[in-house]
Amino acid sequence: MTELKRLTEEINRLRKDKNAVILAHNYQVPEVQDIADYTGDSLGLSQMAADTDADIIVFCGVHFMAETASIISPDKKVLIPDLGAGCSLADTINADQLREWKNEHPGAVVVSYVNTSAEVKAETDYCCTSANAVKVVEAVPEDKEILFLPDMFLGAYAAKVTGRKMHIWHGECHVHAGIRVPEIKDIRHSHPGAEMMIHPECGCTTNFLYHSVNNSTNGDKDMCFLSTGGMIKHAKESESKEFIVATETGMLHRLRKDNPDKIFYPAKEDAVCKYMKMITLPKVLKSLQEEVFEVKVPENIAHRAKKSIDRMLEITA
Ligand code: 13P
Ligand code: SF4
Repeated sequence: MTELKRLTEEINRLRKDKNAVILAHNYQVPEVQDIADYTGDSLGLSQMAADTDADIIVFCGVHFMAETASIISPDKKVLIPDLGAGCSLADTINADQLREWKNEHPGAVVVSYVNTSAEVKAETDYCCTSANAVKVVEAVPEDKEILFLPDMFLGAYAAKVTGRKMHIWHGECHVHAGIRVPEIKDIRHSHPGAEMMIHPECGCTTNFLYHSVNNSTNGDKDMCFLSTGGMIKHAKESESKEFIVATETGMLHRLRKDNPDKIFYPAKEDAVCKYMKMITLPKVLKSLQEEVFEVKVPENIAHRAKKSIDRMLEITA
C-alpha cells in the first residue's frame, strides 16, 4: 500500500469515527485539498463552520481562519494541524494598535478583513473577506467615517469600487504584494489571449483598478478582481480557455482539476504562502488521532468578535 493510500484510509476512518469534518483553504497543498470535505475561500469556510453538524472541525488553513471557525461554532472542537500556520498580513495590526487608531477617529466604523486576530475582530464593527468587502463597505451608513484594515490593496479596491473615502491601514500580505505590475505585464505579453483573474490583495491591484473599475464594477472582459472562491466560479462560467491567475499558486490545483479543458498560468511562480504549506497529510492525521492543536478563543473576546462576523454573514446571506 502506498503511503498516500495509508494516510487517506486512516484519515477517512478517524473522520467517520469522530464525526469530524475537514475544511481546507484553496491555497492548501493538493493532497490536503483532495482529502477535505470542503475546499473554499475564507467566506465559504466561515459559512461551512457555521453550518456543520460535525463535532470536530479540522481546519486546514491558517490560524485566523481556525479562530474564526471557533468563534462561529464555540461548541465544536476546532483543530489546526500546525500551530505555526500564521499570516503575515494578520500580524500587521494588533488590538492595541487598533484601539489607538480608533481613538484618533472617534465615531468611525471599523471594517476588518477576516485576516486579523480574534482580538482585533473584537474591536471591529464589520468583518469582511475578499469576496464581500465591497458589499460590507456599502452597508456602512454613508455619514460614517470608515477605518479599513489591514490590507491596503484590498482597501484601495473597496474604496474605488464603492466611491467611499476610507482611512486604510498600511498592511500587506508579502505573497500578494509581490505580484506587481511588471510581472503581470510580462505574463500578459506571453499569453495575450488569456483572461486575468486578480486577487485584490495583489500589489498590482491599485494600478489596474482604474482601467478595470471604469468598465464595470467587476472588471472588464479580460481582467477581474476576485476572491479565491470567486476565481473558481468565474473560471467555470467564463468562455475563455486561458487564464492568468494572480494569487497564491495553491489556487491552480483546484482550477485545473475543475476545468481540464482550460489552461491556467500563475502570474508569479513563487507566490507561495509558506504558512499555508505547513499543513500536510501526516499532520492532518496526527491532528485527528491526538485531537491537536485545539484553537479556542477566550469567551469575552469571542463574544465581541462574533458580532462583527455575524454582521458580515448577514450582509452576505
Ligand atoms: P480568500 O478569502 O480569497 O480565500 O483569501 C484569503 C487569503 O488569505 C488570501 O491571501
Ligand atoms: Fe496571510 Fe498572505 Fe498567506 Fe493569505 S497568502 S494566509 S494573506 S500570508
